[in-house]
Amino acid sequence: MVKQANGKLGVLLPGMGAVATTFIAGVLAIRKGLAEPIGSVTQLGTIRLGKRTEKRNPRIKDFVDLASLNDMVFGGWDIFPENMYEAAMNAEVLDARLLEQIRPELEAIQPMEAVFHKDYVKKLDGKHIKPQTNKMELAEALMEDIRRFKAENNCDRLVMIWCGSTETYIETKPVHQTIEALEEGLRNNDQDIPPSMIYAYASIKMGVPYANGSPNLSCDVPALVELAKQNQGIIAGKDFKTGQTLMKTIVAPGLKARALGITGWFSTNILGNRDGEVLDDPDNFKTKEVSKLSVLEQILEPERHPELYKDLYHKVRINYYPPRGDNKEGWDNIDIQGWLGYNMQIKIDFLCRDSILAAPIVLDLALLMDLAARSNMSGIQEWLSFYFKSPQVGEGLYPQHDIFKQEAKLLNTLRHIQGEDLITHLGLDYYDEE
Ligand SMILES: NC(=O)c1ccc[n+]([C@@H]2O[C@H](COP(=O)([O-])OP(=O)(O)OC[C@H]3O[C@@H](n4cnc5c(N)ncnc54)[C@H](O)[C@@H]3O)[C@@H](O)[C@H]2O)c1
Repeated sequence: MVKQANGKLGVLLPGMGAVATTFIAGVLAIRKGLAEPIGSVTQLGTIRLGKRTEKRNPRIKDFVDLASLNDMVFGGWDIFPENMYEAAMNAEVLDARLLEQIRPELEAIQPMEAVFHKDYVKKLDGKHIKPQTNKMELAEALMEDIRRFKAENNCDRLVMIWCGSTETYIETKPVHQTIEALEEGLRNNDQDIPPSMIYAYASIKMGVPYANGSPNLSCDVPALVELAKQNQGIIAGKDFKTGQTLMKTIVAPGLKARALGITGWFSTNILGNRDGEVLDDPDNFKTKEVSKLSVLEQILEPERHPELYKDLYHKVRINYYPPRGDNKEGWDNIDIQGWLGYNMQIKIDFLCRDSILAAPIVLDLALLMDLAARSNMSGIQEWLSFYFKSPQVGEGLYPQHDIFKQEAKLLNTLRHIQGEDLITHLGLDYYDEE
């Protein structure tokens, strides 16, 4: 039984830069009828129900009980004190004329002091940070912020989505293995607990669903998976699937479906926003690189299809190039093989807008995690893999990257929540199935 979405849904964002401001300003603009929620599957997507002949295709937002955009309130933390109007102007993603029309609402949203340490993001320097130096005390300070935000804004429910900078690469260590080890590590200021993990801990501890929009570990460690299970908590991650990886997970399954070979896939990006600047540091880039590289391997399964993919050479580069700002350019050169091994090439040049692609993902995750919590789901929400470059999965499982399989799982989970038949697309006439 799904609890009704009554009252206000607070959306808390650690990291209130380009993605976060584009999301918040976007929802405010849509609420005023100034723009359409393009890119949001929950708002514009439809879902087929029953047999094809039944012609039941409601909008997803009319099919499942999602919070209304009018009931959303926004808050978060950043190492810079600028309000959301100033931060959105600095991010230079949205048109100043649009921002002017929602200026008072944006100005009213002020980031809370962040949990931050320069060791994890060397390129950034901010002063709007919490004074505590002990990591457990910092987690407690975040929990206090969460309580206060909920009370002051009269929220019925909360969700948290990490939109902060990508942190330096950290591998899973013993301190991440159990709740006890992590809590001990927090008390002892363990170097392998970065700020994003402290936010995740605070969120899960408070029973607030948590999603990780960056490739850093954050909630993707056994201790926090366990804590989420214990607390009936919801977690999802990691790294919003936008731009080049979105293209990759659309194109690769199609080539594989037609048994076409791929010998090389070279991807390069130029971008000039603050995210690009942070990723210019090799330690931070490494975190992103690992997230981006895993995709093709899983989709193409070279070990199962050696004739097609055994020689695949996959390379990903990101170059910081300030003139482009948030308007990233992602180039892909794909060397493919057809019948009898004849070579062909595909070139993709995606002139995209990073935060414009990420903002609707933040909206959908906020609404769907809240739905999951009201539906008594808990733990890692693999059905939300659709939105991530490097989906978080349970121990011993591999992530599913193929966007079409991810979409099928997302839609079937919604059907399941509403007690509708799952759809297998087995629509053969002689089965009289669909
Ligand atoms: N298409 C996309 O834009 C996209 C796709 C996938 C992932 N991401 C990830 O989303 C994140 C946000 O991207 P962005 O373009 O908004 O970057 P941004 O640099 O504009 O914003 C990040 C913000 O996080 C703040 N921050 C850093 N550490 C913090 C901390 N510990 N606590 C609170 N705030 C902190 C920074 O001050 C900054 O304002 C990045 O990690 C990026 O890699 C973005």
